[in-house]
Amino acid sequence: MARFEATVSAPVNIACINASCVSRNPATVLILFQCAHRYWGKRNTALILPTNSSLSVTLSQDHLRSTTTSSTSEGYEQGDRLWLNGKEEEITKGGRTEVCLAALRKWRREVEEKDSTAAKMSEWPLRIASFNNFPTAAGLASSASGLAALVYSVSQLYVLPQTPSQLSLIARQGSGSACRSLFGGFVAWEMGQRDDGADSLAVQVAERDHWPEMHALICVVSDAKKGTSSTSGMQKTVATSTLLQHRINHVVPDRMSEISRAIAAKDFNGFASITMRDSNSFHAVCLDTAPPIFYLNDVSRAIIAVVEEMNRASLASGGGLLAAYTFDAGPNAVIYALEENMPMIVSTINEFFPQTLDFPDPFNMLAAATAATSARPQGFNNSVVREGGWEKGAVSRLIHTCVGDGPRRLSDEEGLLTVEGVPKTLA
Ligand code: ADE
Repeated sequence: MARFEATVSAPVNIACINASCVSRNPATVLILFQCAHRYWGKRNTALILPTNSSLSVTLSQDHLRSTTTSSTSEGYEQGDRLWLNGKEEEITKGGRTEVCLAALRKWRREVEEKDSTAAKMSEWPLRIASFNNFPTAAGLASSASGLAALVYSVSQLYVLPQTPSQLSLIARQGSGSACRSLFGGFVAWEMGQRDDGADSLAVQVAERDHWPEMHALICVVSDAKKGTSSTSGMQKTVATSTLLQHRINHVVPDRMSEISRAIAAKDFNGFASITMRDSNSFHAVCLDTAPPIFYLNDVSRAIIAVVEEMNRASLASGGGLLAAYTFDAGPNAVIYALEENMPMIVSTINEFFPQTLDFPDPFNMLAAATAATSARPQGFNNSVVREGGWEKGAVSRLIHTCVGDGPRRLSDEEGLLTVEGVPKTLA
């Protein structure tokens, strides 16, 4: 019985310009948004169409990744099946996974129609198993890497001719930010204008190798009480925030071009100032929502204070910006910095925010730190931090990574499914 499989891994991405308002509601729900400050328009939320373009850095799969095997066989029992981290998940009718699989099958059917010798895979059941190598408790959204890996693995299985940008149209409908995880390096999600979403897709702004010195330190901040879910929060923001209208019409479009220019020129000052200002603009819009949405907590704000003080002291002594913080819909900070400044940043965060979980230190920042490499800029004012630093666990763990490549095709030896189409490892 014919059987085919493809195993891939896909990366996590972290936005520098936030896609502040995407929605995943059923097709019947329409959101209002002001289009090009001329009129109020409508966008269909089932298609996950954002109200503004966004830009992210793809993080290295050496540290954070989703690995997915997709397989199909005419011998499998009817019905598609999916396992996440060894546990079977229902593929709900009209749900995000089903929408992606239906779109991929449609493209496979086109291949089969053009080539009568191609296996009729579009008619066969699928078996998909996926693992995230980072725990959900790390507070990182796994849906971006997870849905990108799902779409990329099925596209490899089906030998689809579509480009990564075309695949991003499908990944977007699985989870908005997943569209950006189909590329490595620096990636824009162009919001597009069309009602059917056919131009709302990801494009690469620069390759990983253009600026490999770009590093990221993820500070996982404990979030005892979970606030608003990001999806319902975004809907409330679209419906009530007047500041959002200013952001999407007058702020984000210029920042998209400025940050693209900064990336092309490897201008860290430009990149960092836009990233921090955009994170603050996004959280201002959250606060402008009725009722207000608070994603940042005291620890998040303390991290902002430390980074701002590092930058202030560096500028005051004739240097440039050293680091940029960004926060999405949660309290975790991601600090971008050039590799050369990371020993100081890692040791500073480590000192002020002692963690509960051991820091793996993959780049040997602490082990190789010297008084010179870990010295904070002259004039750094320690009093921006609570006396004695924060209690252990306010930041539960640190993950140090860097800009990385796009989805990778892996060998069949790394496959997650048996020949019967069930996971080799169950939870
Ligand atoms: N959602 C979250 N993680 C996922 C994964 N690895 N694969 C598919 N969907 C996901």
